[in-house]
Amino acid sequence: MQQPNLMIRPLCTGDRELIQSFYDDMGERSASFFNVARGNEMRTLEYLDNGRKNHLFWMAQAEENGRPVAAGLVFIWDIQTSAVWLGVAVRDSMQGQGIGRRLLETVFAYCREHRIGAVLLRTAYENLSAQKLYERCGFERIGHDGKGEYIYIKRFERTDLCL
Ligand SMILES: CC(C)(COP(=O)(O)OP(=O)(O)OC[C@H]1O[C@@H](n2cnc3c(N)ncnc32)[C@H](O)[C@@H]1OP(=O)(O)O)[C@@H](O)C(=O)NCCC(=O)NCCS
Repeated sequence: MQQPNLMIRPLCTGDRELIQSFYDDMGERSASFFNVARGNEMRTLEYLDNGRKNHLFWMAQAEENGRPVAAGLVFIWDIQTSAVWLGVAVRDSMQGQGIGRRLLETVFAYCREHRIGAVLLRTAYENLSAQKLYERCGFERIGHDGKGEYIYIKRFERTDLCL
């Protein structure tokens, strides 16, 4: 089922409660890929506290029983460089509905607008859903980090960038 009122927007200070529930509701498997040692949770909360100035986050907001929920989160870092790193996760109950793809497209639009040349990411060998998403969205696998994760890159053509 598609989420009828899905909205993707920059994450802002008032989203703390939605974000906390997003992490609290995350199942073990997703957390083992996305929130090891609560690393990304801390990173997101620090961003909301106005830290992490080299990061940008967007949230997919949906409705559940008439109330807003965080359906997904995407972020990039090292935004002062021409090749940014990316992280993405979708609420377990809303996976497989195209939200991951829409979150990545939001980042791609930002990159084109800001003339960023490439997006890099790491993902675990076992994370087949994520690998499918990345490959469907034009990422190429370029190697591994020697610690259980593949490295992927998406490069933008110069003509693709908003000049
Ligand atoms: C990986 C993740 C972000 C994918 O998000 P999603 O919203 O479920 O993915 P989408 O529905 O947008 O799928 C996008 C594409 O990937 C493919 N895909 C996604 N999950 C898949 C799966 N489990 N099996 C097969 N294909 C899959 C879809 O077929 C789709 O391709 P299409 O648009 O050409 O049909 C989500 O599964 C997730 O949050 N996982 C836990 C956290 C995580 O692993 N984050 C990444 C860490 S590197």
